[in-house]
Order: sequence, then C-alpha cells, then structure tokens
Amino acid sequence: MTAPLRVLALDESAGPPCARLTSELDVSPDDADKAIACVLVAGALDDAALVARVKQHLAGAGEYHCEPSRTLIVCNDRSSATLRALLATGAGDVISDCDEPAALVRARAARWALIDATLARPVVADNLVGRSQTWLDTLRCVSETALFSHAPLLLTGPTGTGKELLARLLHTLDRQRHKGELLTVDCTTLSRELSGSELFGHERGAFTGAFGERDGAIARADGGTLFLDEIGELPLELQGQLLRVLQEKAYRRLGGAHWRKVDFRLVCATNRELPAEVEAGRFRADLYHRIAAIVCRTPALAERRADIPRLIRHFAASEHPSQVTFSPVLMEYLTSRHYAGNVRELRQVVLACLRRHVGAGPVSLGCLPDEEIRSWRLALVDSASPSDHAICIDDFVRDALHANVTLKELGRLVEAAAVRIALAESKSVTAAAHWLGVTPRALYHRGAAQREDLRLQVSA
Ligand SMILES: Nc1ncnc2c1ncn2[C@@H]1O[C@H](COP(=O)(O)OP(=O)(O)OP(=O)(O)O)[C@@H](O)[C@H]1O
Ligand SMILES: [Mg+2]
Repeated sequence: MTAPLRVLALDESAGPPCARLTSELDVSPDDADKAIACVLVAGALDDAALVARVKQHLAGAGEYHCEPSRTLIVCNDRSSATLRALLATGAGDVISDCDEPAALVRARAARWALIDATLARPVVADNLVGRSQTWLDTLRCVSETALFSHAPLLLTGPTGTGKELLARLLHTLDRQRHKGELLTVDCTTLSRELSGSELFGHERGAFTGAFGERDGAIARADGGTLFLDEIGELPLELQGQLLRVLQEKAYRRLGGAHWRKVDFRLVCATNRELPAEVEAGRFRADLYHRIAAIVCRTPALAERRADIPRLIRHFAASEHPSQVTFSPVLMEYLTSRHYAGNVRELRQVVLACLRRHVGAGPVSLGCLPDEEIRSWRLALVDSASPSDHAICIDDFVRDALHANVTLKELGRLVEAAAVRIALAESKSVTAAAHWLGVTPRALYHRGAAQREDLRLQVSA
C-alpha cells in the first residue's frame, strides 16, 4: 500500500536531500491535502534551532501543519541528547544517519495507512465511537497491537471508558486468533475457595465437591484470546500461578500432575494504577512486567468532550427505532456536564432521557432525570446573594414538599448535590473533602452511595 506523504525541508540547506527523498518516495504535490504523514528533513541548523523549528512545525505554525505523532524527522550527525529532544517534541520518530531513509519512511507510512484503513472499517467505526485525537490514539494503539504484534496488552483507564470494548476489538482484529474464542474472566469474581479452578481447571477430587474433571478459562482460550478483566483484583496467590503459565506457555489443572501446552493472546484491563499496586506490594512486579508489554490508556470522557454529541447520537440510534434528535440546549448541557462514570454514565443518562421522551419533537431538557433537575435548584441557591439565600432555600423546600419529597429524602438530595458539586469543582477528592468539612474516606463512602443511587434510579 502506498500512502500519500509530504516531505518538507526545515531550512534552505536541507533543499537537496529533501528533493532527493521527494523523488525516491515519488511524492506528488497534488497529494498534499491527503497526506497521512509528514517528513521533515533537517539541514545544517544548529541543534537548538532545529528543535525549535520542529516544535514550531508541530504546533501547526505556517504551512506545515501535520499530526505530531505522524511526523518523521530525517537528520544526520546529531548528538543523542538532540535526538531525544527531537522525540520529546511529540514527533512520531527520528530517522538519523540512515543511508536509505526512503525505505524506512515508506514502511512506516504503509503501516499507518493500514491502521487508518482498519479504523475506518465498520467493526471499529460503528462500535467504538469518537474522533477526538486522544481516542484516536487509543484506537490506533489497540489496532497496531492486534495487527502487528503477539505481545500481551494491558488496557488502563478510568471506569466506563471502553476497556472491555477495546479488548473485544483486539480479539476481532487479531489475524492469528481467528480460530479460537475470546474468554473473559472477571478477576473480582474469582473465588478463593476454588483457588483458581476457574482459571486453571481441576481434576476429579481436587477439592471437596470436585466430582468431575473440568477445563478452566486458560484451556478454553487456547488458540484465542484470554481477557483478564480487573486484573488488579487478582489474589496474590493466583498471580504467581498465572506468571508461571505465561512463562512456560503451559498450565496444570488443580490436583493434576502433568503440564499441558497452551497458546493464547493475553489482554488485561484495570482501572487501578498497577505501578502503585506493585509499589505497595499488592501486585507482583514480575507479573506486571509480563502483562504490560504494551500499555494502551483509555481517556476519561472529560478528555474527549468533543466526542459527546457523536456518542449521544450513537446511543440514541442504537436504542430508539425511529430517529430522535436532542434539543440544542439539552445537547449543550450533556456536553458540558461532569461524568464520574464516563461513557457508561453518559449512556445511562441518554437512555433515561429517551425513556421519558414522548411525541415527535426533539428530546428536551425536561426529559433529564428528576434528581438532575433538582440539583440545579440547589445551584440557584448557590448563586443567589446572601440575603436571597433564605428565600431561595424556602422556595426549594416548599416545592419539594409539595412534590411529596420527605424530610429524609430532602436531606439526602442536599447532601448528594453538595458532594457532586464539590467533586466536580475541586482538583482532588482530598480538596473536595476539605471543602465539605469531612474526611476523604467519608467522602468516598458518600460518593459510592450516590453512584449506587444513580444506578438504581437509572435502571428503575
Ligand atoms: N467509544 C465508545 N463508543 C461506544 N460505546 C462506548 C464507548 N466507550 C464506552 N462505551 C460504552 O460504555 C459502557 C462501558 O464500557 P466498558 O464496559 O467497555 O468500560 P470499561 O472501561 O471496561 O469500564 P470498567 O472499568 O468499569 O469495567 C459500555 O456500554 C460501552 O458500550
Ligand atoms: Mg470493564
């Protein structure tokens, strides 16, 4: 596959090598707008000026604009410190002192073109919604791993950001794994009593109640993919056994004597900071290095707000048989709102709105869950002048009482809104706790209770 490229000289002295590379790569000026990558050729600029010029380019200055991670820099005779500084600008790679830069550039661009074509396939574009740069980087990371590597993949990122979807995508795109299954094991549900039988299987009589022999997830993933979800919860005693399987590419059933060969791709997911878990002695360092050969991070929804309207339309289309639209004011609210539960929470809010929506017009602001609307009244109280506060609070309480809200429920609503607002407007949980005058631990408990309430309310 030949991919359209741009080749640019970073200064006048780079003219001749730039012209040579342009002709070797058969670059056409007509393709400039379609180029998937840009090659910057360095001439005789001194090191500091070269780094500054590259930075300018990556910041989109002048005519050069191209995605930083898809920019290659070709240079000669530079110190390793300068090469590191060039990479630190965010460029995709630096090709230095190479007799045949064209071959390297061509290979790199062909890979990028294949990844782009993969992301445009319906299996990706229709299910893993989003076009923001940060989400695109994650999708590219998973696709490249699936297409060009056999190494284990670790997916990290906050709750509800699509780690499970990406694990499925890895399995679907992995050309080596088309014969085997995707086996998912939720490590939070592994029972200690069965000491790993779910993973390794067991022989008859291996423990009380083991009336027959049984294959575990590892055996069933042979030839396919083993997805260990919430790997941070894997009990320490099983971590050692899993490490052995990964090292030996073989496993032993519980109560069994002989080793059985097995071959699978491993993908793990966690929303914990595993390096911190290793530091705290709760996760084995050797296992961490085995499972984290490639790490892809899923961004929080707050890092990709531009994707929210697209996600809303996706969830609405998949749940609603006829096409529905969302009013601009509701769209604006949903795009700017805080989502502790990320895409999962966004989906729940969209579904809750759709459940309340009636008629042919767009889904309106009033379709939001009651609790959400009530919290705005509290915000009104917040923004009133001190002398208005008592009146506003009286109004709010009067409305609520007329709506048959009990005293207990009122207290809970006020507390829930205070926790939500403090968390949304503070830099950390500790800062929010300080603001509210409670301990961080107490705030965690309240936050957890609140999320559970929201879940119950949404699923009601
Ligand atoms: N980019 C996306 N496009 C479409 N749906 C998405 C996207 N990201 C997440 N979702 C949806 O959000 C929900 C949560 O996704 P998923 O279960 O993959 O998250 P997770 O990161 O594994 O969360 P957790 O850490 O809580 O297990 C699912 O309903 C999923 O379909
Ligand atoms: Mg998950």
